[in-house]
Amino acid sequence: MSSIVGFFKRNYAAFISPPTPRNADDSSATSPPLKFGILGAAAIAPAALIIPAKSHPEVELYAVAARDISRAERFAKKHGIKKWYGGQDSYQKLLDDPAIDVVYNPLPNGLHYEWTMKALAAGKHVLLEKPSGDTAEETRRMFSLADQKGLVLLEAFHYRFHPAILRVKAIIDSGELGPIKEVNATLAVPKGVLDSVNDIRMNYDLGGGAMMDCGCYPLSCVRYLASSNPSAVTSATAVRYPKDPRIDIGTTADLTFPSSTPGGQPVRSTVKCTMSNSPRFGFIPKPEINVRAVCESGSIELFNFVMPVIYHYITVKPDGGIPRTEKAYAFKGDGGKGEEWWTTYRHQLEAFVDKVKGRAPQTWMSAEDSIANMEWIEKIYEESGLGSRPQSTYVFPTL
Ligand SMILES: *[C@@H]1O[C@H](CO)[C@@H](O)[C@H](O)[C@H]1NC(C)=O
Repeated sequence: MSSIVGFFKRNYAAFISPPTPRNADDSSATSPPLKFGILGAAAIAPAALIIPAKSHPEVELYAVAARDISRAERFAKKHGIKKWYGGQDSYQKLLDDPAIDVVYNPLPNGLHYEWTMKALAAGKHVLLEKPSGDTAEETRRMFSLADQKGLVLLEAFHYRFHPAILRVKAIIDSGELGPIKEVNATLAVPKGVLDSVNDIRMNYDLGGGAMMDCGCYPLSCVRYLASSNPSAVTSATAVRYPKDPRIDIGTTADLTFPSSTPGGQPVRSTVKCTMSNSPRFGFIPKPEINVRAVCESGSIELFNFVMPVIYHYITVKPDGGIPRTEKAYAFKGDGGKGEEWWTTYRHQLEAFVDKVKGRAPQTWMSAEDSIANMEWIEKIYEESGLGSRPQSTYVFPTL
């Protein structure tokens, strides 16, 4: 398949018209579908859940809740969702619906804690948008409640489930390039996409800020590839939002990680995020979505670690060897699940459903990982002088 044809076929199936699941004689479809309820008529829901659900035989989009009932109804009808709840108590009504197995929580960051705690208390599994909370303390409490109740809680770090990042991690872990010395990751969203005054990402009380929104990705990615948590934030600089200086429209942070060899130098890392990237040549938005690692005997780069299904490449340069470029749209010959057109979100949904159904997911992201990511987001904000986002004032009733 030529790469141009492949590009269109893959993206058509990924975002426009995913092939529908095989029928009920497929053994994976014999288990009854999980009924999902969505909190809020969020803009992210179609990409993150609704389109991926179309090709998953064990997922039923069952209900949506929004304060504004006409908005809930429009959203439900547009996406083929059976039930909708509206009004001030719409979220709670959805949680009280005994038919619902799983709650998808894409609410603003500042509401993650309250509604995830309430969903878990109602006995629902939760797929929670990233970043998981406003503070690591919130994240710790949510995972501890999920654990107590025996429920699945996953922070939706979808890129982690895609073969592209898993391939990069496997190459680093194989030792082909030697121990890792340096790892940088950047996620820059072009100017104008997100930086409007009314955007929730610019709202401090709702847990806004670039390091929360797009910065959580590069931080997660360098922690993953370094296979450890940082030992320190050595510097962090924020570009402040003029209308509210507690909000960063971009942050650059230098971190160190423990050495990957006994007695060796610490691993250096720079993570960068911005919600207001200046266009190159004045008009073409410059995509900066890459992660690059330098190891003792070579380097590796993945372009587009966040949305690899659209297009990506992995460049491997062994010192003194022949450089090569790899693509990993699907798992190759290793029994991995999925198709070339599966998005990161589709891979994530597969793993999430496997976990809820008691099967072993191919990839998983642990509670410790989510807690540590939040801890280091807070440490970066501390170093940049902006401070942590406000912890939720919601008090969970002691059971
Ligand atoms: C990582 O970023 C730092 C700071 O910008 C830079 O000096 C270094 O060369 C970068 N390393 C890689 C592997 O890109």
